Amino acid sequence: MIKVAASILACDLARLADEVKRVEKHVDMIHFDVMDGHFVPNISFGLPVLKALRKETKLPISVHLMITNPEDYVDRFIEEGSDIIAVHYETAPHLHRLVHKIRDMGAQAFVAINPHTPVFLLSDIIMDIDGVLVMSVNPGFSGQRFIARSLEKIRNLRKMVKELGLETEIMVDGGVNEENASILIKNGATILVMGYGIFKNENYVELVRSIKQERGEFAD
Ligand code: DX5
Ligand code: ZN
Repeated sequence: MIKVAASILACDLARLADEVKRVEKHVDMIHFDVMDGHFVPNISFGLPVLKALRKETKLPISVHLMITNPEDYVDRFIEEGSDIIAVHYETAPHLHRLVHKIRDMGAQAFVAINPHTPVFLLSDIIMDIDGVLVMSVNPGFSGQRFIARSLEKIRNLRKMVKELGLETEIMVDGGVNEENASILIKNGATILVMGYGIFKNENYVELVRSIKQERGEFAD
């Protein structure tokens, strides 16, 4: 079953609770982008906002940590109610320890990779994680154009997961829209993150419905 995550970076943040309530019956999870102004050239929101949002929705929340020192913060993001924590491969020299810490605390551990980071670098961590977050734009902003090369990364990742007999989720984040959703699913994506595709799209209900009817063929 394909899942859709609504990325709140693209919503009207002055009305965050209303925006989440507007979309929550259509989507499977909320995507919460944390940016520190160091790892990425933007600053978004963090722990107090997560705490406030947690009271407003029962949907799972996936926290995408775009920060240079994730090991200092994962505990608090889990305590404030994140269900999934995605840490960037590029930010974590002790990734094995970190993903096990996330899992031991009861959250799902995802590893995010930037557009330049090859999939093969995950070969010795893939069995320790619940999902991979493939960045299909350079992280930092909503509303950017999908980088076409990401499709092949997803296909390679699907192959790796299949060969190892794993059930790792493949989340794709950045520039996902009505034009590329179907092909992403056919190539192995299992969770589509959308900011503009949901909050800045009058036809998002129809888009999400059609996405959820898609089936991955997971061909190599
Ligand atoms: C980018 C963020 C994405 C972004 C997606 O750094 O990680 O989650 O909000 O937004 P769209 O779907 O508009 O590209
Ligand atoms: Zn994100």
